[in-house]
Amino acid sequence: MNFKKEFAEVLAELLNSEKTAAELELLIEKPKNAAHGDLAFPCFTLAKIKRKAPNLIAQELSEQIKAPIFEKVEVVGGYINVFLNKKLVSEKIISQIITQKGEFGTHDFGQNGNVTIDMSSPNIAKPFSMGHLRSTVIGNAIALIVEKCGYQPIKINHLGDWGTQFGKLITAYKLWGDADKVRANPISELLALYVKFHEVAETNPALEDDGRAWFKKLEDGDAEAVELWEWFRDESLKEFSRIYDLLNVEFDSLAGESFYNDKMDRIVDMLEEKGLLVESNQALVVELTEEGLPPCLIKKSDGATLYATRDLAAALYRKETYDFVKSLYVVGHEQSLHFKQLIAVLKKMGFEWAGNMAHIPFGMMLTGGKKMSTRKGKVVLLEEVLNESIEMARHNIEEKNPTLANKDEVAKQVGVGAVIFHDLKNNRMNDIEFSLEELIRFEGETGPYVQYTFARACSILRKANWQADAAVPDYHTSWEKEWKVVSHLLEFPNVIKRACDNLDPSQIAKYVIDLAQVFNKYYAEVRILEESEEQTARLALVYSVTEVLKEGLRLLGIAAPEEM
Ligand code: ARG
Repeated sequence: MNFKKEFAEVLAELLNSEKTAAELELLIEKPKNAAHGDLAFPCFTLAKIKRKAPNLIAQELSEQIKAPIFEKVEVVGGYINVFLNKKLVSEKIISQIITQKGEFGTHDFGQNGNVTIDMSSPNIAKPFSMGHLRSTVIGNAIALIVEKCGYQPIKINHLGDWGTQFGKLITAYKLWGDADKVRANPISELLALYVKFHEVAETNPALEDDGRAWFKKLEDGDAEAVELWEWFRDESLKEFSRIYDLLNVEFDSLAGESFYNDKMDRIVDMLEEKGLLVESNQALVVELTEEGLPPCLIKKSDGATLYATRDLAAALYRKETYDFVKSLYVVGHEQSLHFKQLIAVLKKMGFEWAGNMAHIPFGMMLTGGKKMSTRKGKVVLLEEVLNESIEMARHNIEEKNPTLANKDEVAKQVGVGAVIFHDLKNNRMNDIEFSLEELIRFEGETGPYVQYTFARACSILRKANWQADAAVPDYHTSWEKEWKVVSHLLEFPNVIKRACDNLDPSQIAKYVIDLAQVFNKYYAEVRILEESEEQTARLALVYSVTEVLKEGLRLLGIAAPEEM
């Protein structure tokens, strides 16, 4: 139900063919102050065309608006403000939600097109960083949102399992490694080796040469190198999958950088054929001067390939395998230049589809205003953070609802949901300050607050013994007191569309917070459980709120426990 559209159609008819309904729809606003109506049409553009004062036009048009969905039309300045017919609109939307349930707000403009989403992509033998957490939860929410809009998401974990760092790691392992220690604590042990490598290499540059040599061996399939690499990879994946289980995130493909080892020659040959490869300092590069970018390094002097070479091969592979309509890369903004170069090189190669690739950047996770870094071993282990958040959620539940049956499961849903929500509630470009105490609160703009509101609404329905099917369209209420909540429900489909257009999950996070807030206000003012003529309508509204909150949370990758 799109009232902007209906309003635009009414106006278009009155205006004959001066502007199309679609053009008019874009002009319609939603007044910030509800006292100014539900929708407003500014007459300034028309005033220019008609060479007439805006308030005169508003006056003339408003007198002719006679549609049952509007109960009042007002003119203020150059604006036509319309008030929706509360009874008609509320009952329409509520019956729609009751029938559609979780399907409410679904769109089909994606037309089944494939959208590949490069997300998470942690590096083997290194801890799963906060940046990878951000990529995982933002990517997962984007996948859910585009799916809701009719696209086919394909979630790809482009594991960092190839590159010179593995040569360094093998060097370090052969010098100082201990197999038992690695087996017991793979990531922290391998990280320690990697850190030691860099410390020693500062005074002993020859070590870097050894590292490069081992990576070359790995690329050439040397048995010892490959065996060690596979072992590091397996152990790391085991640790990562614990985090993915906690986050409830799955992938359609785990084709990481190593997957492209045998697919890079083709790209290098193509670049060669198109005359795009030039030698620079004994390395092969693609010049991007015209594009205003530094050259893209394709092959090092020793013949070793690079991160960019693998991404070129991956982009082509994805186009050929999935024929995507969009190819997204959810990666921190510090890699912006890399993705600009990647897309520019592909365009130079004549691949027009490179125009459908997009880097979806995001800001950093900070503690005490500083970036959390892995290089020097200063790292917050993500699994610990998640577990700590789950513990805090359990503690909150113990206090508030000590008799809850499935405490462990709910604590997990709340603790993990809190971390995800904290990440998604801000525009993804913002840096976020990480604070466990802040994100696990049951009040304010937190995930637990939304989950708690949902659980409370569920408990009202349980107490009233309300059945979704029992809803009758014959509601005895004017919907005056309910209107604020109803008008938020009306917005849900638009919010989803906007979140999809901007690939911005924060739109949905902000929406569920707002909906929870207006609902809680309503709940404080109206005695829903007291028997009254209006009770059926009120319960139907509560039910609609639960459906929309649950679906909103689901689109963010967050569970909605019915009791907590
Ligand atoms: N592994 C990389 C890192 O941790 C991220 C990879 C992003 N994806 C890509 N196709 N380059 O920095």
